[in-house]
Amino acid sequence: MNKSKSYACSECGASQPQWLGRCPSCGAWGSIAKEETSGRGKRPVRLDQVEPEEAGRIRTGISELDRVFGGGLVKGSINLLAGDPGIGKSTLALQMSSAFDSVLYAAGEESPSQIRLRADRLGIDSKRIKVTTETLVEKIVAEAKELMPSLLVIDSIQTARVETSNSVGAVNQIREAAAYLLHSLKEPRIPAILVGHVTKSGDIAGPMLLEHLVDVVLLLESDTSGAYRLLRGLKNRFGSVDEVGLFAMGEDGMREITNPSELLLPTRTDLVPGSAVVASLEGRRPLLIELQALTVPTAFGTPRRLSTGIEQNRLSMLLAVLERRGGIQVGNSDVYLNSAGGFRLKEPAVDLGVEMAVASAVLDLPVPEHAIFIGEVGLGGEIRPVGKIESRLKEAAKLGFKSAFIPEQKIDSVSEISLRKVKHISEALCIFQK
Ligand code: TYD
Ligand code: MG
Repeated sequence: MNKSKSYACSECGASQPQWLGRCPSCGAWGSIAKEETSGRGKRPVRLDQVEPEEAGRIRTGISELDRVFGGGLVKGSINLLAGDPGIGKSTLALQMSSAFDSVLYAAGEESPSQIRLRADRLGIDSKRIKVTTETLVEKIVAEAKELMPSLLVIDSIQTARVETSNSVGAVNQIREAAAYLLHSLKEPRIPAILVGHVTKSGDIAGPMLLEHLVDVVLLLESDTSGAYRLLRGLKNRFGSVDEVGLFAMGEDGMREITNPSELLLPTRTDLVPGSAVVASLEGRRPLLIELQALTVPTAFGTPRRLSTGIEQNRLSMLLAVLERRGGIQVGNSDVYLNSAGGFRLKEPAVDLGVEMAVASAVLDLPVPEHAIFIGEVGLGGEIRPVGKIESRLKEAAKLGFKSAFIPEQKIDSVSEISLRKVKHISEALCIFQK
């Protein structure tokens, strides 16, 4: 006596007559699954006979993207690609599509002809991509199960909805649609990219509420200058979340920047006062970035302090330390500070470089050639240790830097770069003495 199809919540065990995105008994999302049809429960399986989920990564061929995925997209995984509208999510999704044999692209926001146009522009072979403007997830899944594509793209999750939905409100609809996709794509093991728009304010950030449902969350962001795109892993069940991919939006789509330091470093060889190179970590990756400072006497009123890339408050603090502990007068000067490309630097490890750039500008003397500055600066002017100094030094050596001004700290492996340990800002400022 077989029970007919029934569904049950994996969280609380309550049975349901139909599949639902949310369990009405305990309120868990995406927890309801089909029960075995026999009266017996699920049969145990030998663990060694279970295919590990890790098995089968598909390299997208875009190395910056594969890096953030942790080596490629995992088969059967559900991946959320989130970011502001217009940041390049659809472009990236389409670009990565070309690595797959067959793609089903469910476009809820654009017409097939718009997508064709973009594909042509990106130089993508559009034969392998099937486009549907269907937005009902039941129908998309039915189509996917028939076509069995090697990738399913839902662009976007905001436009997708469950036909049998009885919930109201955008957030609930998004969750319901995502939960349905998750549940129904697991077994056929069709990997999916869910594109989700996120708003700055965060409150209508529907897609971010999916974070615990999906396997991977990637956030595509722009840096302050708008010149670069940073792809960050916020969640990754199959890899590290410490990775950052770098891109620039060009005429032909998202271009990878595989050696970002080269782009952010000075191109000229002559030394200009006010310039200093710092090593900042983006994820696990050290980036060498040029800082430029300019100082001019304040014409009237309060001195201006303008910076791009460095937080204004941090700059004010560093200027105060430079004056009080280093004896460099900046109180009556306007100070302008830029990081190359307006690249946002949040790490205190760039402090020493900021001090040196400003001091160099005030004194109108360049810093030593091929030198790099690493260190956090405290209120007492002391130079404090930073994390992962070895990887920063290695990157600097690789790019031809000869000397590094660093904090007094233990270093595991010394690379081919001469190290100058400095304890205090006044000690570092000795580089300007003739
Ligand atoms: P899009 O991928 O549509 O953003 P999203 O899906 O995140 O909303 O791309 C956004 C912008 O990128 C759009 O204004 C046009 C621009 N763009 C380029 O500069 N180069 C290109 O090759 C493409 C396809 C788009
Ligand atoms: Mg889009």
